[in-house]
Amino acid sequence: MPSYVHQNNRDEFTHQNFLNAYLVFKGHKPVSLEPFRILPSSQATGANKTAKRLTNLMNLTVDTSWYTRYRSTGNPDFGDTFSQIVNLVDLPAIPYSDLPLPTDPDGFKVQLIANTAGFHFATIEQGGLSLYDSLLPKASNPEVIKIVAGIGGSEIQHFEVWQDKAGNAPPVMDNSGNVLFPQLPMAPDQTPNGTDPADPMDTNQIMPRPCKFIDADLPHCAVVRPTSIAQAGAVATFTGFAQSGLFAGQSEGFFDFIFALAKEADEARREFD
Ligand SMILES: [Fe+2]
Repeated sequence: MPSYVHQNNRDEFTHQNFLNAYLVFKGHKPVSLEPFRILPSSQATGANKTAKRLTNLMNLTVDTSWYTRYRSTGNPDFGDTFSQIVNLVDLPAIPYSDLPLPTDPDGFKVQLIANTAGFHFATIEQGGLSLYDSLLPKASNPEVIKIVAGIGGSEIQHFEVWQDKAGNAPPVMDNSGNVLFPQLPMAPDQTPNGTDPADPMDTNQIMPRPCKFIDADLPHCAVVRPTSIAQAGAVATFTGFAQSGLFAGQSEGFFDFIFALAKEADEARREFD
């Protein structure tokens, strides 16, 4: 995971920097969230302890339903719903202070954090790729289409790797034998004599299982889902992020600012439509 964490982090900074530079390039005002950088940093070794953060990674409730959604023939845009593969409620995704190594008797604590982080990454990225796909049909200018498709495409790459990594999350038990994180379901093809390399419950899933798309009477298609504004637009995406606790502790002004931006994005209309 470490190299992917660094690459993903690098990519997101380039997206933010590019989009703001492009706004300025086109004579518009850039967007800054710096006034909202107020949340405390982790105090673990290696963290920039005095830095202030935009996000709160200490009390996440991670929506893990993408795991079942991308292994299903259903599509949220058709009203289909998907169960959680694992319940991750009010958990940290980073250590707040130094914790025992995984080899220590109390090592389950840091393993649970790693598992939570692994699922949280994928949850964020699947939201991101659905978001870009939902906004793509709104763009009129070929250069804007290129930007939305280009950055959205890299979000797909992010989700792919985290989806694969999340499948490797090991079961976690505390020292009394209580299951904190279950063994993920194993597909028959993950046994040595398995025969179906595309079993939907394969933990090594990267590609999307073909699902309903555009019209239920059409053949199933391997696609990103959801892509509707109602399910995947900017307001829907930010609502999901907020409900996960990612911005717990942020000011009312922060939520007002982001929701106003998100609403504006969702209301954009393609010229000629
Ligand atoms: Fe991303």
